[in-house]
Amino acid sequence: MTQDAARYVGAIDQGTTSTRFILVDSDGRIAALAQREHTQIHLRAGWVEHDPIEIWQRTCEVIDAALARCGANAGDVAGIGIANQRETTVIWDRQTGRPIHNAIVWQDTRTASLVRELAGDAGLDRLRERTGLPLSTYFSGPKVGWILDHVQGARQRAQAGELAFGTIDSWLLWNLTGGTEGGVHATDVTNASRTLLMDIETLEWHDEALELMGIPAVLLPEIRSCSEVYGEATVTGLAGCPVAGMLGDQQAALFGQACFSAGEAKNTYGTGSFLLVNTGERVERTRSLLSSVAYRRADQPARYVLEGSIAVTGAAVQWLRDKLGIIDSAAAVEDLARTVTDNGGVYFVPAFSGLFAPYWRDDARGAIVGLTAYANAGHIARAVLEATAWQTREVLDAVVDATGAPFGELRVDGGMTANDLLMQFQADALGVPVVRAAVAETTALGAAFAAGLAVGFWSGQDELRERWRADRRWEPQADSQWREREHALWKKAVQRSLGWV
Ligand SMILES: Nc1ncnc2c1ncn2[C@@H]1O[C@H](COP(=O)(O)OP(=O)(O)OP(=O)(O)O)[C@@H](O)[C@H]1O
Ligand SMILES: [Mg+2]
Repeated sequence: MTQDAARYVGAIDQGTTSTRFILVDSDGRIAALAQREHTQIHLRAGWVEHDPIEIWQRTCEVIDAALARCGANAGDVAGIGIANQRETTVIWDRQTGRPIHNAIVWQDTRTASLVRELAGDAGLDRLRERTGLPLSTYFSGPKVGWILDHVQGARQRAQAGELAFGTIDSWLLWNLTGGTEGGVHATDVTNASRTLLMDIETLEWHDEALELMGIPAVLLPEIRSCSEVYGEATVTGLAGCPVAGMLGDQQAALFGQACFSAGEAKNTYGTGSFLLVNTGERVERTRSLLSSVAYRRADQPARYVLEGSIAVTGAAVQWLRDKLGIIDSAAAVEDLARTVTDNGGVYFVPAFSGLFAPYWRDDARGAIVGLTAYANAGHIARAVLEATAWQTREVLDAVVDATGAPFGELRVDGGMTANDLLMQFQADALGVPVVRAAVAETTALGAAFAAGLAVGFWSGQDELRERWRADRRWEPQADSQWREREHALWKKAVQRSLGWV
């Protein structure tokens, strides 16, 4: 098979709710896409699990479906990239390839008491200097600790080298490259930077963190860059293709938005929203945001991000649909919101499981405030959309505080960006333009970019920058007086949600 003949780069986007596979042509256009959902397993309140075997099966299915859709085979594919839901934790048996427990998903809060224990008198920030992160149920390390504590014999077997840990990137890479028959056990710097186990300056596993959580080093994957050949696929219709790109989904979206340089930022609006700002070769630090790796190409220096993670944005729209039943599709929220001309004084704080950035308050709970007899479903729909925009504004404010650099524009992607009303409101709330990418699948695209660069399918990042295209741009229309008044009311609503539990 000659790579010169290859027409496409392939990319897996293994997300929280579904798995996608795309084939991208040299112009950066999507030639084929297949997508399948997987089961969300909720055994108790606060627990969220996935079946890693199901995720691997869905991955194989979408690969073969997308290849079939454009009549392609492995010879048409120059390389494969992987983007994945971050932090979600799998531990499997190296001999049998079977996971010893379901994957514990990033949203899962079962490690709350373990996290308090790990913090002890030293506090939640005891690993922040080296890892860029506070101790939290959100990250992988405590989830690994929990599995080793709760699956019988797991800690001894881990010490004996019989088990392997990975985030979903590692799990897919290992299976794709042969699994028990010589599968590659590796992760990339962006995924590793979300484990609480990696030193973000040296890009190596951090002994103190491993010791604190009782995690033996032999359990861990090798940390590699985001763009290099890790191995060759041996299974699925892609057998023979090099696997050459890996990035956590939010970093992949940043890469897919061509935000390669310091100061460039994107916000991805999905279940939650994740605003990442490239800070270049410097690790920037501030207590209200997370410091992580943006990307690293082969042996070049790593680039970093400041990240504001917002737990609930699109999920609040799903809540209107599934729990209140006032809309019958996510898209219908826009029509409902347009039945009124403003929010009617109603504010919605979607603190369903506390508030992430910039508040980091797990004692907050959801609130709808400002209700009068005048308020109707349209006002509530509007307040849900506005909450997304104000949460984004507050994360961006925290970024500007930390970096001291003002913002030119915000690039956006993800399911909620189909909502034009929200996008205009977002520009108004920020006071800077909002720009939607022409390719909606920026997450998968970023993984394809990383793989394509590694195998020479594209010449370099400058070429990718040229390939990036805007679909639409929203200029702020509201005046600053309106903006500050509404922002103050939003903040007041947030105060009402704090300290509830
Ligand atoms: N027109 C719309 N207006 C508002 N929200 C919307 C609209 N369309 C979709 N959404 C919301 O966007 C979210 C889905 O976004 P997206 O498809 O980007 O997520 P995803 O990448 O599949 O998620 P994950 O990676 O977590 O699996 C849902 O929460 C949905 O409620
Ligand atoms: Mg996604």
